[in-house]
Amino acid sequence: MAKDYKMEVIFKELVSSTQTKLIKGLEIGQFAAPCMLIASRQEAGFGSRGSAWQSDEGNFFASFALSSQALPDDLPLSAISIYFAYLFATLLREKGSKLFVKWPNDLYIDGKKIGGVLSTKKGEIIVCGIGLNLEFAPHYAGVLDIKCEAKELGRAFAKYLEILPKWKEILSKFKVEFQKSKKFSVHVDLEPVSLENAVLNDDGSISIDGKKVFLAR
Ligand code: BTN
Repeated sequence: MAKDYKMEVIFKELVSSTQTKLIKGLEIGQFAAPCMLIASRQEAGFGSRGSAWQSDEGNFFASFALSSQALPDDLPLSAISIYFAYLFATLLREKGSKLFVKWPNDLYIDGKKIGGVLSTKKGEIIVCGIGLNLEFAPHYAGVLDIKCEAKELGRAFAKYLEILPKWKEILSKFKVEFQKSKKFSVHVDLEPVSLENAVLNDDGSISIDGKKVFLAR
């Protein structure tokens, strides 16, 4: 739990996608981990299943890069999106929000999705993207229940990420929060599967009727 790095925060007005731009920028040496890229707008934002992510000005769009070595040594790769979603949700709850993390990578308020997290590993670097509806949402989704300004939120989260708790600590809290996921379904092989009887495993996967389910996020 040592604070041994400082995360650089970069702001851009318009990018294709913070995730794509950050990955490319790391490859060509334009950016170096640890850093966070925040954009006001994205022309080609995407979600974890490849769908388009509505990205007009006013909402929060950010991606950050961390060396695997900076991560807690007990964090399984399969739990990275949950881990960072939970940290982000914790920061927002400290600001008064009632959001929760719905397994495996969604941010919810009541029955509505208000944001999501995706992550990928590029060599030794983890790149994690977060979208959060601050001002507007598609008709089927919701917006955050407190007022936040995107840049200020990004700066605060970058600071938050400088001290990473152990996965064990987050897992024990998320096991409680996981109960809220149980009234939802997830798509496994394109089929909706209820989470009612799902059991959360220590690696962030779930088991349903004894069968382990991982979702690539
Ligand atoms: C999900 O499907 O729930 C995850 C959505 C992640 C969207 C964010 S917005 C910032 C970053 N850039 C992208 O293109 N996607 C992620």
